[in-house]
Amino acid sequence: MQATARAQPNIALVKYWGKRDSDRNLPAVDSLSLTLADLHTDMQVRFEDGLAHDELTLNAKPRPDLGARVSRCLDRVAGPGRSRARIDSHSNFPVGAGLASSASSFAALVVAGAAAAGRKASREELARLAGAESGSAARSLYGGIVELVNRDDTIDVGMLCSVDDWDLRVVVAVTDAGPKPVASGDAMELSRRTSPFYGRWIDEQPADMAAARAALTARDLDALGEVAEHNCLKMHSVMWASRPAMVYWNAATVNCLQTVRDLRRGGHGVFFTIDAGPQVKAICTPDHEDAVAAALAETAGVREVLRSRLGEGARLLGEAA
Ligand code: DP6
Repeated sequence: MQATARAQPNIALVKYWGKRDSDRNLPAVDSLSLTLADLHTDMQVRFEDGLAHDELTLNAKPRPDLGARVSRCLDRVAGPGRSRARIDSHSNFPVGAGLASSASSFAALVVAGAAAAGRKASREELARLAGAESGSAARSLYGGIVELVNRDDTIDVGMLCSVDDWDLRVVVAVTDAGPKPVASGDAMELSRRTSPFYGRWIDEQPADMAAARAALTARDLDALGEVAEHNCLKMHSVMWASRPAMVYWNAATVNCLQTVRDLRRGGHGVFFTIDAGPQVKAICTPDHEDAVAAALAETAGVREVLRSRLGEGARLLGEAA
């Protein structure tokens, strides 16, 4: 009745922003991401008869405020008649700050929850269960470079490149580890309702996905960077033009963009992306990683620099008992 799973966050290069069905949490657009290795969430789920409520801790602190999404997700995984559970989550990186902690958390939760409930589920099924609670979490079920594609009334998620196919590195410049002001789900809904650019964003996504896939096939970092930076800035333009405007950036975010551009002008193969938070993620090949990390660490306003290789999809740690 108990199991522990580990999952890593993933960083989208072609982003998910917007839902076509908010009840079932189906994304409005396809997306493509890198699964990280060195940042992770470990999640233990223990079903216990006699517990009145699910009890969630995050890095050993009780978090009843986050319990509703976790309980709903466990209901889908183990059935609404399930026993209540103790859920203990540990992340080795800032949570709720635009570092995709919801992706690693819900990916780990479905893997641990299914094992603890004795449910045999395929990776595909687990990805759909994770995606039903957090769209980006579906991608953390797979390692390497991953795509999420919309089908009629569901999603298909799969690996495009394994960790051995292309050795990319991700350097994260943390500019503010505090919680984000607006949750991504709420922000997407505001964009859909109010941003004049939302329709254009949806219409152009297939072309960005096609360009990213072609760049991957050719292992062309410059081409991948070109479409990823465009897609990222386009998503943020959608947010900036929403009413009220949603600006997740701070001054250091902009400084980091300048650093990445300067590095590129200096001959380094590197590009940036930014999610619903002020952190900047720089993607490069191993030969440029030290220079990228050093330059970002020296950038005004950067508090911490994290580095990661690409990693595996969510998995059980040890056997369920
Ligand atoms: C900017 O997956 O957190 O990181 O489905 O509402 O939980 P919900 O949204 P979430 O949104 C992630 C948005 C993003 C882009 C991306 O990861 O593709």
